[in-house]
Amino acid sequence: MSTTATLATLSDSNLAADPNWWRQASVYQIYPRSFSDSNGDGLGDIKGITAKVPYLKELGIDAVWLSPFYPSALADGGYDVDDYRNVDPKLGTLEDFAEMSAALHEAGIKLIADIVPNHSSDRHEWFKEALASPRGSAARERYIFRDGLGKNGELPPSDWDSVFGGPAWERITEPDGTPGQWYMHIFAKEQPDLNWSNREIRDDFLKTLRFWSDRGVDGFRVDVAHALTKDLTEPLLSKVELSEANTGTDGFADGSHPFWDRDEVHEIYAEWREVFNEYNPPRTAVAEAWVHATRRARYASPQGLGQAFNFDLLQADFDADEFHEIITRNLAEATATGASSTWVFSNHDVVRHATRYGLPMGGGVHAKGQDGKGWLLAGAPAEELDVELGLRRARAASLLMLALPGSAYLYQGEELGLQEVADIPDSERQDPSFFRNKGVEIGRDGCRVPLPWATEGTSFGFGAGRAHLPQPAWFGRYAVDAQDGVEGSTLELYRKALKLRRELQTAEELEWVETGNPKVLQFTRHGGWQSVTNFGAEPVELPAGEVLLSSAPLDGKLLPGNTTVWLR
Ligand code: NOJ
Repeated sequence: MSTTATLATLSDSNLAADPNWWRQASVYQIYPRSFSDSNGDGLGDIKGITAKVPYLKELGIDAVWLSPFYPSALADGGYDVDDYRNVDPKLGTLEDFAEMSAALHEAGIKLIADIVPNHSSDRHEWFKEALASPRGSAARERYIFRDGLGKNGELPPSDWDSVFGGPAWERITEPDGTPGQWYMHIFAKEQPDLNWSNREIRDDFLKTLRFWSDRGVDGFRVDVAHALTKDLTEPLLSKVELSEANTGTDGFADGSHPFWDRDEVHEIYAEWREVFNEYNPPRTAVAEAWVHATRRARYASPQGLGQAFNFDLLQADFDADEFHEIITRNLAEATATGASSTWVFSNHDVVRHATRYGLPMGGGVHAKGQDGKGWLLAGAPAEELDVELGLRRARAASLLMLALPGSAYLYQGEELGLQEVADIPDSERQDPSFFRNKGVEIGRDGCRVPLPWATEGTSFGFGAGRAHLPQPAWFGRYAVDAQDGVEGSTLELYRKALKLRRELQTAEELEWVETGNPKVLQFTRHGGWQSVTNFGAEPVELPAGEVLLSSAPLDGKLLPGNTTVWLR
């Protein structure tokens, strides 16, 4: 078994000045409201991030991806944006943003901003204007308004469900007080979908891209990049007809779905690319696109966004065969398209991988893709959680990922080995998916609990006030100050791995080494850097070479189970 994918070589001596900096970058996702709170109001903020730049520098990441920081009522954790060209006053000001951006750049860290083009919030000026304006007005044309079905328009235009549960259409009251039209919202009802066939929307987003690029943003993470263009020609297919037409494994394979992954969406990204290329170095982008595997490459095209998230490892079990197949396929895809691969285990939408790997494999307890498969910890039996095993495997998986060619996306707290918080009281939950599913799915709050910086004290050092989501008593064990400088801690493992990765990372290629054991994956990178993972429970013989780093203590000449080692 041998795969070699040769692509551009990264200049590792001067990452900051390299226009290809993103190709093999390690990118750390910050969920701003839960990272660090500078003013004690319980909500993380921009100044809190600036204060932690030394921590980020020491961690050794190349870039920060900032989840939405825009003014928002937080109906969906900030993915409901009131104003695309401002900072939420609860989080700070544009000046604070400039200060943070300067501090990150000073530390050699790039800045990627989340952009949310599919929907605004219902508090956006545009939406307020649409509600106050008559049917058929230019203001309504910025969104997707339809008359309802039934005798008096009392039924939604179609029976589609929103991603968070409940109908994808919401009826409004017209300015004269009568029951009125319906607007489409793929997500929460506070997130009306924008009408991307309207030139005004397209132009306004180009303005937003320039606004942030002029303020030091080096790249963009594009939220639900695959949903923007829609074909809502009537009659609209029912959800049963749509699911019957869906013969692919994960989304439509032919671009015929009325709103997911239509071909025309790439016309938008071609225009965005022109804006990115106005800058030196060009601004970068990564698509969040949950699409059929055969269609992901379109988003990653150099004429489009340039990179797309690959959520395959995030959806896989801790299993050598699955990992081998996913890595091989994705590297081959990257070679074919000219994009670099992306890898990710955890983010703000899924159960933390240290917890997933501690649950029984298979059986639907792992986080899955959005499209109809549920992305949450649905019904996972807490008593079956093996915290120690989960962490051990997460460390092994992360070390393997950090040895792969391409970009590694890390989620805040995974460097602490943080576990999902499963037992948030219902009264404290915030995620709309919890409420709209009537509690069937517990939602995504468990991976968004504010970080523990200190073993003790108010909100474990997150801030001077009570954190906006409750932190459990055991959070202190994972605190930064409990791990800082402690040999073998998860934090020190990430620090060492990220440092070594920078030194060792060269061409975007790997070569599999035959191990003769189906539970052991071994590959070599250019220059002789090797990564070996024992996915099994039993120890195996350690291959020859100088040990650079291992995810768990080695046992003499043996590589223990659920462990990764780097060799040279
Ligand atoms: C994907 C984001 O990652 C998720 O958090 C959000 O709820 C949806 N898009 C809607 O914006």
